[in-house]
Amino acid sequence: MDRVADRLSALGSTAALELRGVTRMFGALAALTDVTITVRPGERRAVLGSNGAGKTTLFNCVTGDFLPTSGTIRFFGEDITGFPPYERIRRGLRRTYQISALFLGLSVRDNVYLACRGVSRSRFSMLRPRANDALMQATERLIEAVHLTSVRDQLVSELAHGQQRQLEIALALAGAPRFILFDEPAAGLSPTERRELVEILTSLPPHIGYIIIEHDMDVALRVVESVTMMHNGRIFKEGAPQEIESDPEVQELYLGGGHE
Ligand SMILES: Nc1ncnc2c1ncn2[C@@H]1O[C@H](COP(=O)(O)OP(=O)(O)O)[C@@H](O)[C@H]1O
Ligand SMILES: [Mg+2]
Repeated sequence: MDRVADRLSALGSTAALELRGVTRMFGALAALTDVTITVRPGERRAVLGSNGAGKTTLFNCVTGDFLPTSGTIRFFGEDITGFPPYERIRRGLRRTYQISALFLGLSVRDNVYLACRGVSRSRFSMLRPRANDALMQATERLIEAVHLTSVRDQLVSELAHGQQRQLEIALALAGAPRFILFDEPAAGLSPTERRELVEILTSLPPHIGYIIIEHDMDVALRVVESVTMMHNGRIFKEGAPQEIESDPEVQELYLGGGHE
């Protein structure tokens, strides 16, 4: 963590995401305590930790679903600590949820098109979509990026679970995201669907950074270059995937007992 921070200040560059001393209380319970994280533009990071470690609360503070009790959050240099969620989305922050938020009665294409329209300036336009308009082209590109071209005319309710999760990634890619938070994207996926997910994540445009919460270490460690380990609302270790994997303390706390 400090190494990354030092390197950033040496380079004079701005972090994509910077949390400083973030604490979030729920009554007397500290879900997050003094969390400091710096993520570079384009960096891909896993946040790992057992149930209740504070991972989802961390995401909620970054997206603005919850406000931190104390501490600051910067997004590409701008202090967004108190911003409402839509102001963060406007600045290129996206998230996927553990539970799907899709229009089941619409086609894959319509879901992606609506997401593209929702984040574009023309969202109040009454014009009908045309195959040659820029939003429709963006829609087709996103469908391809998440490997759903062959099912683009199907209703979302007809898709396999894994395909629905791929569609969620397409929705997060709508507009011009600079940073995405993925909350357990591999949950409930088959081994084949997991391989597909790894391929999709590793093929995202390099300027898009992300944080992924993921219990499946085979997925998590293959799609990131850095790992933050959390326990009881605190960060207790950061490093490269190989360092984390072979760390005895990590193995005892996380990979060994106590993990669901
Ligand atoms: N909305 C909430 N109200 C009260 N307590 C919460 C709320 N959200 C999370 N918590 C508590 O905060 C702690 C961290 O939870 P969470 O961030 O969901 O952990 P994780 O995602 O790592 O499993 C847990 O003890 C949880 O019970
Ligand atoms: Mg969670």
